[in-house]
Amino acid sequence: METNPKVPQEVFQAFLQRYPLYPRTAFLDELRRREFSRLDRSGAVYLDYTGSGLYPETLVQRQAEWLQSSVLGNPHSENPASRASTEGVERCRSRILEFFRADPGEYALVFTSNASHALKLVGEAYPFQAGDRFLLTFDNHNSVNGIREFDRVRGARTLYLPIGTQDLRVREEDLEEHLAQARHDGHNLFAFPAQSNFSGVRHPLEWIPRAQELGWDVLLDAAAFVPTALLDLSRWHPDFVCLSFYKMFGYPTGVGALLARRAALGKLHRPWFAGGTIALASVQADCHLPASAPACFEDGTLNFLSIPAVESGLDLLEKVGYQTLGLRTGILTSWLLEELLPLRHANGTPLVRFYGPTDMQDRGATLALNFQDPHGEQIDHLDVERRAAARRISLRTGCFCNPGAGELALGITADRMQACIDESAGAAGCQDARRCLDPRGAGAVRVSLGLASDFADVHACLQLARDFLET
Ligand SMILES: Cc1ncc(COP(=O)(O)O)c(C=O)c1O
Repeated sequence: METNPKVPQEVFQAFLQRYPLYPRTAFLDELRRREFSRLDRSGAVYLDYTGSGLYPETLVQRQAEWLQSSVLGNPHSENPASRASTEGVERCRSRILEFFRADPGEYALVFTSNASHALKLVGEAYPFQAGDRFLLTFDNHNSVNGIREFDRVRGARTLYLPIGTQDLRVREEDLEEHLAQARHDGHNLFAFPAQSNFSGVRHPLEWIPRAQELGWDVLLDAAAFVPTALLDLSRWHPDFVCLSFYKMFGYPTGVGALLARRAALGKLHRPWFAGGTIALASVQADCHLPASAPACFEDGTLNFLSIPAVESGLDLLEKVGYQTLGLRTGILTSWLLEELLPLRHANGTPLVRFYGPTDMQDRGATLALNFQDPHGEQIDHLDVERRAAARRISLRTGCFCNPGAGELALGITADRMQACIDESAGAAGCQDARRCLDPRGAGAVRVSLGLASDFADVHACLQLARDFLET
């Protein structure tokens, strides 16, 4: 296997000895040279794939060529330009269902602007009534947490399923205890992420049939999972799935999906109608007839110029194969963990504090951590971000829109949080609340890998970590 000029030869050889399967992923080095050469040309080290994937060059080229050679009109019509747009959108819809192995008789695909929009569609239309349940894991993106505002308005109960403060996983007994609280003859919605955007933990997909058996509709947030793992909807049958395509292959932004079981979609009651979502509406008769699914969930004009690019992205992911991608990102994550864990300051204090599992069992290629000084005090993650930027490294800091996992990982209690929110009310806000919780800025550093990651990237991350070592 070729060595990378940015990495000392002996370091790479030692890595290869430790991970002899890595050369099986050499296709991804070739892909990086072909599709992501801008990274190495500019010296950029990208470590925020959970934030966004990077787009392969040919994906945008192909899309530009298609746009330049097509005449595309608003799809809500029957003229040739309109039909060309509809064809592009519908072909892509079928391709996405096929990619996720979803039976079109069982699942419908609703195009949305992103994963958050898909979540909102479910939250606002789920038939919550007084006494119904909305159960969700502590570990969730804010776009899932936000659904509680809909259930509260209608008198349902929000229940949070706790995670362990060390491994950030759910205990089986807690799961069973919470699932047992489904309301008989009521509406029960259970939401969890297939992969945590905070810790990289992969929560068991086995929860889906278990929850359904006990009377829950399951909303699976797959946004952080599908960039490096296949969600096989012929094996798993969640009622609702949300995702954003830019997280899978960087482009296009503004296109996401709600994959939903047709039976589950039938339960939803939309609070409004819009152009495109109705078969007929009358002003004088003050009534409307909804279009059938998925059209009745697609408000206004779809992003018909961007949607067809998703097909090229899926083609590329399929060509790479999740097996190769998972092998490479898994090996690189494992190496990084193994190298970071033993780092110690001269007085023996560990340099890195990880949040979540430090092994490779049931996890993706996302690590949450903080660096600490020789006294065990956390180094401000904003300092880390500054030093990373000086090395042209892009990583993510803060709480990553996942306050539940963040609060538990960082040991922030409900009382302390409330006190700091009260104290900072009326002042500059969020940053003040963070400083109140911890003078070094409550938050963490997140490193995540993906399609274009290589050994040089994780090596650069390790070098950055060593910057903080006091010898
Ligand atoms: C697990 C998870 N869910 C939902 C979202 C929201 O995605 P978007 O901002 O594309 O709507 C994200 C974004 O980071 C995420 O990581």
